[in-house]
Amino acid sequence: MDTSPDTTQSHLELASVSHWYGKVCAVDSVSLSVRPGSFFTLLGPSGCGKTTLLRLVSGFLDPDAGSIRIGGVDQAGIPADRRRVGMVFQDYALFPHMTVTANIAYGLRMHRVPRDERADRVHAVMQRLDIEDLRQRYPHELSGGQQQRVAVGRAVVLEPLLLLMDEPLSNLDAKLRVRIRAELKELQQRLGITTVYVTHDQEEALSLSDDIAVLDQGRLQQQSDPVTIYEKPVNPFVAGFVGSANMLRLTGQNGVRRLCMYRPEWLYVAPTGAKADDPNTEIRTGTVTAREYFGPTLRYRVALADDASPVYVDAPSRPRTGQRDTFAPGDNVALYIPTDGGWEIPDRG
Ligand SMILES: Nc1ncnc2c1ncn2[C@@H]1O[C@H](COP(=O)(O)OP(=O)(O)O)[C@@H](O)[C@H]1O
Ligand SMILES: [Mg+2]
Repeated sequence: MDTSPDTTQSHLELASVSHWYGKVCAVDSVSLSVRPGSFFTLLGPSGCGKTTLLRLVSGFLDPDAGSIRIGGVDQAGIPADRRRVGMVFQDYALFPHMTVTANIAYGLRMHRVPRDERADRVHAVMQRLDIEDLRQRYPHELSGGQQQRVAVGRAVVLEPLLLLMDEPLSNLDAKLRVRIRAELKELQQRLGITTVYVTHDQEEALSLSDDIAVLDQGRLQQQSDPVTIYEKPVNPFVAGFVGSANMLRLTGQNGVRRLCMYRPEWLYVAPTGAKADDPNTEIRTGTVTAREYFGPTLRYRVALADDASPVYVDAPSRPRTGQRDTFAPGDNVALYIPTDGGWEIPDRG
């Protein structure tokens, strides 16, 4: 059997993959496909099976059912050290007593790559990652972003077809996380390597990914691009996990009632008494019951006169000239709903 991968399709394909830990089904018949060169994210709450999926792909665990193909090659029976998969862990797991050079060269030494070739490959990777100046430093002498580069370098020096990353930003504070997130995206694009990224953070997933797979309790809920995931979730779980979802009952011109999802920024509030000049806008009256200040935006909670569930509406915290005012709790408002702008969520995706 020919096990050499076809590098023109260095992607990943999972077909009905399941994994059980004793009686716990951690991964339940998951099928997904990762396009070559893409940034692919597994998104879901803690315990939904993300790490287990990465372990199955890297070969540290075997599936109980289903198949995994990397670059078109079925991975059944191929041990972890012979899979062309690189891994970046949450804490980067750099060897503290080794320099940057030694950290990156480590895998090549394990694979008994001759000294000269080793030096060439380590040098080439450091050049691509722009970390040559750091070569003699130890991990504790590096910033978070630099450590991440070294961790990526250590993985890509082995020329993997796939780079797997398990929540690599979750140990960082909020500000640093956003900066390193941007660096990571830039790095992935520069290397052009197919990447499977794991996170429970929807903002990270939406901003980084070409495609996202949303998981819940071991099951794939939806696989799509970020805009589709956010704007057209296939079920209430996805709708609620990737953002705030208002569910509103609208009556169409034909009298048919539809249940539609609206993100808070798809709606707006205005002083009562205003008239909709647009036939595709429905107006309901309500009262602001809470207001949260986020800096750039305000989020209002509005109790509607004719609906038990509160509606959340986002507005700029400092309206531009000529635009509507801001409101305070207790204010009566008109809620403007663009009737053709909602998304009718299928009952079950
Ligand atoms: N080694 C293990 N033994 C038993 N159960 C495990 C083990 N690892 C994970 N699990 C269980 O499998 C499920 C998925 O875990 P995991 O893949 O780590 O989720 P995630 O990475 O999304 O947080 C959870 O219910 C978890 O408790
Ligand atoms: Mg995990």
